[in-house]
Amino acid sequence: MRIAMKLSVQVTPPERAAVDVLAVFLHSDDSALRKEMKGLNAVFGSSLLSPITLGDFKGKEKESALVYSEKPGGPKRLLLIGLGEKNKAIHETFRKAAARAAKHCHAVKARSVGFLIPTIPRDLYGTVLAMGEGALLGLYRFDKYITKLKEDRHAVEEFSLIAEDRKSAAEAEKAFARALIVAQSAMFARDLANAPGNEIYPETLAKAAMESGKRSGFKVTVMEKAEIEKLGMGGIIGVSQGSSRPPRFIVMEHNKNARKTVVLVGKGVTFDTGGISIKPSANMAEMKMDMSGAAAVIGTMDAVARLKLPVHVVGLVPAVENMPGGNSIRPGDILRHYNGKTSEVDNTDAEGRLILADVLGYAGRYKPSAVIDLATLTGACVVALGHHATGMMGNDEALMGKLKTAGEAAYERVWQLPLFDEYEKQLKSDVADVKNVGGRWAGAITAGWFLKKFIGDYPWVHLDIAGTAMMEENGDYTQRGGSGVGVRLLVEFLSRWK
Ligand code: BES
Ligand code: MN
Ligand code: ZN
Repeated sequence: MRIAMKLSVQVTPPERAAVDVLAVFLHSDDSALRKEMKGLNAVFGSSLLSPITLGDFKGKEKESALVYSEKPGGPKRLLLIGLGEKNKAIHETFRKAAARAAKHCHAVKARSVGFLIPTIPRDLYGTVLAMGEGALLGLYRFDKYITKLKEDRHAVEEFSLIAEDRKSAAEAEKAFARALIVAQSAMFARDLANAPGNEIYPETLAKAAMESGKRSGFKVTVMEKAEIEKLGMGGIIGVSQGSSRPPRFIVMEHNKNARKTVVLVGKGVTFDTGGISIKPSANMAEMKMDMSGAAAVIGTMDAVARLKLPVHVVGLVPAVENMPGGNSIRPGDILRHYNGKTSEVDNTDAEGRLILADVLGYAGRYKPSAVIDLATLTGACVVALGHHATGMMGNDEALMGKLKTAGEAAYERVWQLPLFDEYEKQLKSDVADVKNVGGRWAGAITAGWFLKKFIGDYPWVHLDIAGTAMMEENGDYTQRGGSGVGVRLLVEFLSRWK
C-alpha cells in the first residue's frame, strides 16, 4: 500500500486555515502553555480553554483533547496534542505526537489536517521532517487482504503545516518533501515484509525491486539460478535447493558515476522454515518477514533515487526460500562460496549467513568505501536487545560511529556488539573452512563472525535487525508486524555521507 497522501505547507493565520482538524502541538511548560492558549482562545472562542480550565489537558505527552471551534470559516475542530516538557522534547517526541494526531484525525474521518506548532523549535527542519514521517507512518496498515474494511481507510488526504512566515514555510516545505519520500519508502519496505510467503518469493521480490526501479529511477538487474551458479554462489544455490521456487540475485544501482560507492546487502529469505533443521510451528508465520533486510535495501534504493542523493549506492539482495524437501541441503553438507571458501552446514536454519557469505564476497567487485549488510539473522539478537535496538558489528569503528549517529537522528538506533577474536573458534569445523553455527553462547556475535570470514578488503558493518524489523506490539507510528526498519536509518546515513 503506497499511501498517496499529501504533505504541504500553508502560510496562513491558523484561524483561517480551511482544514477539518487543526492539530495544535503544545508543551506542558505552564506559562508558555497558558500564553499560547490565550492567543488561540482569542481567535477561536472560549470553548478552547475548557480542556485546560477543567484540567483535562495539561500538555503532557500522550494527552490530547478535541474541541470544536466557534469561529466560522476556519478549522472545524481543534485537536490539542501534548508534547510534554519543552526541554525534554526531541525529534522523536514530535514524530510520535504527529502519529497520534494523525490517528485521531483519521478516527473523526477528517480529510484535511493542519499542524500548528506554536512554540517554534530550534531545529524546524528536523522537527517537521519527524512530524511528516510520524503522520504518514502512523496511518500505515497492512490491510489489503481484509475484504471487509470497517473504517474508511484513506480518510486523511492532506496534512499541511501551518507556517507563520515565508522563511519557515520554505524550510518546512523541504522537510515535508523529504518526509513523504522517506515514509513512502519505509511503508514500501513494510508492505514487502508483511506480504505473505505465497505472494512474495524470490521471483516476485525481484519483480517488486524492478518496479520500484522503474518508478523511482534506479537500475535493477536480476540474475537467475543459472547465472548464480556460474558465479559460484554455492550458499544461495544450496539454501534455495529445497524449494520449488528458484533463487534470484537482485542487483540495484543508483548514481553510478559518483566518486564513492556504498554497497548495501539485504538478507532476502522470503520464507524461513528452517529447512531440514525445521523450526517449531509456533510463530513460524513470522518467518515471512525473514526478507526484511532485503526490504530495507530495496526501500532505501527507492528513497535515495527519489532524493537523488549524490552517492553511488549499490543494493545487493540474495533472494531464496528456505524449505525442507527431497532436494534440500542436509546437516553435514559442505558448500563452496563465491570467494572459494567452504562452509559446513551444521544447521540448515542458519541459512541467512550462507547466502550473505556469497554476496559479501561479490560486494568487493565494486571497490566500495563501505559495505553495510542488514539481516534478520539471529534469534539471539532479539534475546539480547529486544525490539528497540539493532545489533551492530563490524571492522571499522569510524563507520560504526556514523551509523550510530544516523540511528539516533532517525530514531532507528543501533547498538554495537563485540567481534572479539576469542569468539572465532566457536565456528571451527573439522571438515570445512568454517561451520555455520557457533554453539549456544553469543549467537548474534558468532553469526557476525561467520560473515566476517567472507568479507573483502573494505570497511564493513553488519546490522542484525531480527528484533527491530518485526514488532510484537503497536507503537505510535509502528504497527505489529514489519517495521520497515533500516530505510530511515540508511537514508539518514547516506544523506550525511561525504
Ligand atoms: N531468520 C532466523 C532468525 C530470526 C529468529 C529472526 C527469530 C527473527 C526472529 C535465522 O535464519 C535463524 O533461524 N537463526 C537461527 C540460528 C541458529 C540455528 C544458529 C536462530 O537464531 O535460532
Ligand atoms: Mn533460519
Ligand atoms: Zn532466517
